[in-house]
Amino acid sequence: MSEEERKKITIPYLYRKKEEGEKISWLTAYDYPTALYEDRAGIEMILVGDSGVMTMLGQKTTLPATMDQMVWMTQAVTRAVKYAFVVGDMPYMSYQATSEEAIYNAGRFMAECGVDAIKLEGGAQMADRVLAIVKAGIPVIGHIGMTPQFAAQLGGYKSQGRDAETARRLIDDARILEDAGAFAILLEAVPAKVAGIIVKEASIPIYSIGAGSECDGQLLIVHDILGLFELFKPKFVKRYAELGEEMVKVFTRYKKDVKTEKFPGPEHCYNIPEKEFEKLKNKKDGEN
Ligand code: KIV
Repeated sequence: MSEEERKKITIPYLYRKKEEGEKISWLTAYDYPTALYEDRAGIEMILVGDSGVMTMLGQKTTLPATMDQMVWMTQAVTRAVKYAFVVGDMPYMSYQATSEEAIYNAGRFMAECGVDAIKLEGGAQMADRVLAIVKAGIPVIGHIGMTPQFAAQLGGYKSQGRDAETARRLIDDARILEDAGAFAILLEAVPAKVAGIIVKEASIPIYSIGAGSECDGQLLIVHDILGLFELFKPKFVKRYAELGEEMVKVFTRYKKDVKTEKFPGPEHCYNIPEKEFEKLKNKKDGEN
């Protein structure tokens, strides 16, 4: 599709694609160049995830992410994006305490960053937050299954819904989030068959990060697909490149060029016209 034919992606587009059975491509981004190239590649949705504090800032979990950091990263992404549907990710404790705080912080993503929607973690226990944010006019994506902000309660970073009881709870959570007004739901690390039931029961798009192929679209963390994250590699990740290794090769070559004085070459240096240089050399001390 040419640049002129492309249109900004909206919620009606996401619903239409669900109806047509066409899967949505979704990646995270946390900075200007990554968002620019994802948008150029036609990626339809971009999540500015709180995972950014791990992938970009080296934190061990997402819990230290602050609203100010999220706003800073999200602004860089929306500056780059022309077409993709951009989702701001509500960080830990930006919505858990009260609905007022949840509305205020979701509003920051809209007003200060220009996102198309926000995402928050949690099922039934977050239904009133979803309702409050939606009532304030902000589109919400629910996020259930393995929800990193609730890892302490979930007993760690484990796939969820692998027994009948917890699977039933996830199915109920999805229905409750839809009833509360979420326009889409993201399932993380959920068995594909359980996700399949949720997709069949829901009338809103159900997206997957590690929830199998029956979902309406797939999300992955961009650093995972590029080979730029080494702390762990979830089962659902597909690596498309080893850019970390490529970067080490490039930096090694650069270092060698500097040491051997291969860089800079004449093409990297600025010139002064010969006449001016002669004048400079012939100039005596104290002369103007
Ligand atoms: O922060 C993030 O990138 C996320 C995904 C793991 C779903 O929430």
